[in-house]
Amino acid sequence: GGRVVVTAGPTREPIDPVRFISNPSSGKMGYAVAAVAARRGAEVTLVSGPTELADPVGVEVVRVQTAEEMARAVDAAAAAMDLFVGAAAVSDYRPATPSASKIKKGAGDETLVLSRTPDILASLGARYGGRKDGPVLVGFAAETEEVIARAREKLKSKRCDLVVANKVGGPGAGFGSDTNRVALVSAAELAEIEGPKERIGEAILDWILPVLEGRRPRER
Ligand code: PMT
Repeated sequence: GGRVVVTAGPTREPIDPVRFISNPSSGKMGYAVAAVAARRGAEVTLVSGPTELADPVGVEVVRVQTAEEMARAVDAAAAAMDLFVGAAAVSDYRPATPSASKIKKGAGDETLVLSRTPDILASLGARYGGRKDGPVLVGFAAETEEVIARAREKLKSKRCDLVVANKVGGPGAGFGSDTNRVALVSAAELAEIEGPKERIGEAILDWILPVLEGRRPRER
């Protein structure tokens, strides 16, 4: 019966009408969390970047392209949410001034000036982090090295309850694969899990349930 908002997939930050900056996120991890939460009876909104995946059964899906659009869609869905899970690989930067027309190829190199995008998880953390009457906040941390240490840093800097540390770059885990290998990193614990992404989703929700039960119900 809880209200859950999940982000999934990549974002696309336009350079011009035919080019963008993005990453290889397929959306599988976030869609798995959303599907598991819906099967367990939650009211789920999935804010998804561009993916080729079908909408999970019983989930409201809001499709977006850019980090800015994802931030706005999360804001719109966030009222009275009990749980936020940020599985999306949100672009940290966007081209500062996307061109309205296709940029022509010149003889020399080009320089692209980038601006920061809004950090969706960090702004939820600034608003709700540490509050007993706020939603439970779960982030992911995709890293190629010092995975646990960086997940712990994100746990603090983004004021989340849990960070799912995801070592990326190897086979069978991270971007695009059907399976994953993660560590659930909270202030007090560390638990390693591997298997199909749905199994990771189950483990995340199992971890969250007692934390959620300790929170005051959100006003609807
Ligand atoms: O989609 P798949 O192919 O299944 O791959 C899954 C995955 C590797 C994308 C996923 O498991 C994962 O690790 N997602 C987070 C990837 C990431 O960008 O992590 P990060 O360390 O850059 O960001 C940390 C957290 O802040 C994440 O929860 C992210 O959603 C959030 N964030 C980051 C930047 C930003 N501007 N806004 C955010 O909300």
